[in-house]
Amino acid sequence: MTIEFLGKPLKNPIVLASGILGNSRDILERVYMNGCALVTMKSIGPEPRDGHKNPTVIDLGHGMINAVGLPSPGYLNMENEWLALENRSFPLIASIYGGSVHEYQMVAEYVSSKQPDFIEINISCPNSEKHGMIFGVNPVSTHEVVSAVKKVVQVPLIAKLTPQAPDIGEIARACEDAGADAICAINTAGPGMVIDIESRQPVLAFKKGGLSGPMIKPIAVRCVFDIFQAVKLPIIGLGGITTGKDAIEIIMAGARLVGIGSAVRYRGLDVFQKVADEIHQWLVEHNTCLDDIRGAAHRSIG
Ligand SMILES: Cc1cc2nc3c(=O)[nH]c(=O)nc-3n(C[C@H](O)[C@H](O)[C@H](O)COP(=O)(O)O)c2cc1C
Repeated sequence: MTIEFLGKPLKNPIVLASGILGNSRDILERVYMNGCALVTMKSIGPEPRDGHKNPTVIDLGHGMINAVGLPSPGYLNMENEWLALENRSFPLIASIYGGSVHEYQMVAEYVSSKQPDFIEINISCPNSEKHGMIFGVNPVSTHEVVSAVKKVVQVPLIAKLTPQAPDIGEIARACEDAGADAICAINTAGPGMVIDIESRQPVLAFKKGGLSGPMIKPIAVRCVFDIFQAVKLPIIGLGGITTGKDAIEIIMAGARLVGIGSAVRYRGLDVFQKVADEIHQWLVEHNTCLDDIRGAAHRSIG
């Protein structure tokens, strides 16, 4: 089930989502050995940041709500991690974020010098220059930040989009126009809130948080469907993918690769191999292949 992504051959279409298992080589390598073809690091930011107070993640059974608050050691304080990642045996996406176009550029240029295989730009963070608005909900700020980052990176650039955009196809087009090489969708949905009715208080310390896991899969499938219609770029589809059949569904919406995040909690660290095997089995049973089913839901319309 090998597949090519931006010129790189991968053993299967499975990607580890950003922020799920951190940045240490040991864990990222274990994920690769457990059937994942391409691993994404946790988003790296401009400054050291502790993130929000606990509780930050709650399992709701049908998915999770989190407000971890992008904790990061800061891009200049990761020498040990980069050293460990030199001579790695697996393909790597480094994820970055900033609070302004300048910060995004600074972090991206530095991280690019560490030679990950790809850089993913997380444009779902508040934009301090525009009064807390999120970069990725507006095509103008999206274009501005993606084109600025594209100028300073030496590896292919993936733009990770938020489902909060009113028209995600329009945002994907802005990324394509700005020179992005691929799209990753979606980041967490919401924000949502959970209230403990006995204490009458929101359960998360930060009160509101992003939703992930099975409950957001229909949103992810819709977003990938809209992006596939809007642009020619390859798409990493994620959001609630837990089984091989979920993966087949998002591939039929248009995804080339499939990301897995919250499902690690529901099916363990070998979820990657399980989903890869389930995709393979489904394809064999239906006498078809990935190229044949990618975007199939578009062809069946009208
Ligand atoms: C605890 C947690 C931390 C996350 N941290 C990041 C992050 O640092 N950067 C990022 O781009 N996405 C982050 N995400 C979003 C995931 O990468 C993914 O887009 C989202 O969870 C949807 O996929 P899933 O339903 O398979 O989890 C995080 C998600 C969770 C649950």
